[in-house]
Amino acid sequence: MRAAEGWKDYELIDASSGNRLERWGSYLLVRPDPQVIWHTEKKDSGWDRADAVYHRSSSGGGSWEYRSPLPEEWTVEWNGLRLIVTPTNFKHTGVFPEQAANWKIYEDLIGSAGRDIKVLNLFGYTGAASLACLRAGASVCHVDASKGMVAQAKRNSALNGLSDRPCRWIVDDCMKFVLREARRENRYDAIIMDPPSYGRGPSGEVWKYEDDISELVNACTDILSDDPLFFALNSYTTGISPSASGYLLSCAMSGYPGKVTADEIGLTVTGTGFALPCGSTSIYTKR
Ligand SMILES: C[S@@+](CC[C@H](N)C(=O)[O-])C[C@H]1O[C@@H](n2cnc3c(N)ncnc32)[C@H](O)[C@@H]1O
Repeated sequence: MRAAEGWKDYELIDASSGNRLERWGSYLLVRPDPQVIWHTEKKDSGWDRADAVYHRSSSGGGSWEYRSPLPEEWTVEWNGLRLIVTPTNFKHTGVFPEQAANWKIYEDLIGSAGRDIKVLNLFGYTGAASLACLRAGASVCHVDASKGMVAQAKRNSALNGLSDRPCRWIVDDCMKFVLREARRENRYDAIIMDPPSYGRGPSGEVWKYEDDISELVNACTDILSDDPLFFALNSYTTGISPSASGYLLSCAMSGYPGKVTADEIGLTVTGTGFALPCGSTSIYTKR
């Protein structure tokens, strides 16, 4: 497993009985996680001192219980990148900390490419991956179905003094956008996709990982440049193993000279030293 490193302001302190205890800057949050199937003793006092706890309801939604006043938003830093944290109704916070395991790879590949790199970041959310690529010197096209997410991504960009870097911020359905780019003969040297298990486009287009991922990955190969640097496929979908998405990406990229690696990504639990799995990433790299 590749565990995220480089976090100062985020820490996964403990995990037990279906929940994570996390430090986000100076605030402690408790959030549910279906991977946490063990019931170890909750020794850390943070469980009782948490500022907010997210309670999942039987209908699948849920709500936050605030135990002390929390600002509407604050920021956390990863390797010099500042990111806005704002607890949402779906238990999310605006940042997927485990993705830092991938942001580092994107930065290193772009930084050592020795040429201009054009990146397409699909399902880009609040933009952390886009900012990592921009900071490394790439030009980026950031696509997400949600106006609110793209607006927050732009705010994160401004927060890091990256607003003047070459980035197209697009609110659109990813599949529609990719098919249109193919018709326009636009080409990218690197593609990042981090799709949810289930989602909707701006006009209600339904996205279901298992049903749609193969078509999207293959459509993306039509908009790759002749010398692609990398293609990263992330998955949170329960039941889809890293090897499965690795197989899919290997088939799609079989015409290119590079290799595909597939691995779980995760977060180290500082209280135990063990790693919590948080999905998987398959990456095609040129070398
Ligand atoms: C899991 S998040 C991505 C997390 C992100 N990569 C990160 O690490 O910061 C999934 C995103 O997909 C977007 N989304 C869902 N369905 C979509 C669709 N059909 N087209 C475009 N974006 C979509 C959602 O708005 C959400 O921002």
